Amino acid sequence: MDTFFTSDTEQTRKLGEMLAKELCGGPARNASLASASSRSDAGGEVICLTGELGSGKTTFAQGVLRGLGVKGPWTSPTFLVVKHYKKEIPNPKSQIPNKSKISKSKIQNIYHIDCYRVKAQDILDLGWKEIIAGKNNIVIVEWAKRIRKIIPEKSIWVSFEHVNKNKRKIFIGNEVIGSGTGH
Ligand SMILES: Nc1ncnc2c1ncn2[C@@H]1O[C@H](COP(=O)(O)OP(=O)(O)OP(=O)(O)O)[C@@H](O)[C@H]1O
Ligand SMILES: [Mg+2]
Repeated sequence: MDTFFTSDTEQTRKLGEMLAKELCGGPARNASLASASSRSDAGGEVICLTGELGSGKTTFAQGVLRGLGVKGPWTSPTFLVVKHYKKEIPNPKSQIPNKSKISKSKIQNIYHIDCYRVKAQDILDLGWKEIIAGKNNIVIVEWAKRIRKIIPEKSIWVSFEHVNKNKRKIFIGNEVIGSGTGH
């Protein structure tokens, strides 16, 4: 578990972008992000975002999307519940072999889910089990504690706290911070 402080929106996006880059392999720029993102082979990667209203979850998710090479605009999925971004699979002949944990070309689906208005059963009904089982999927979940009982054990947890108007304290690790299902 490691702690970061950001003092504006762009810094929070950058942190999300760094996590995405760790997920795609690339040089380890930050040991904590690298260890939080060391994935299991069981399925896709689940990035759980928790924290009160306006604490920066969507902003961070936008950074992750940017880092994964998804073109904007990245609007919040609050009213849609789930936004699905499909990546084009590049021609394999044009790929330079690399030792990435997940080769960039392998990430085919990125799901950005907002659980603010829904319950675990609603997310299960969306095909959650298939989504998280896909090895080439990355799932970003806002208000993840609300569906904690269906989050896979080996997930990345990112928790946001307001310090003041523009400053945020952000914890990244493999465990959920705090109890309850509030955020
Ligand atoms: N350091 C910072 N990091 C992230 N956002 C910041 C920061 N400083 C100010 N902000 C502002 O705080 C707000 C964060 O909004 P954002 O939608 O990312 O939060 P959220 O946690 O997704 O909220 P919600 O719970 O409504 O989904 C934005 O208006 C953003 O500009
Ligand atoms: Mg949000």
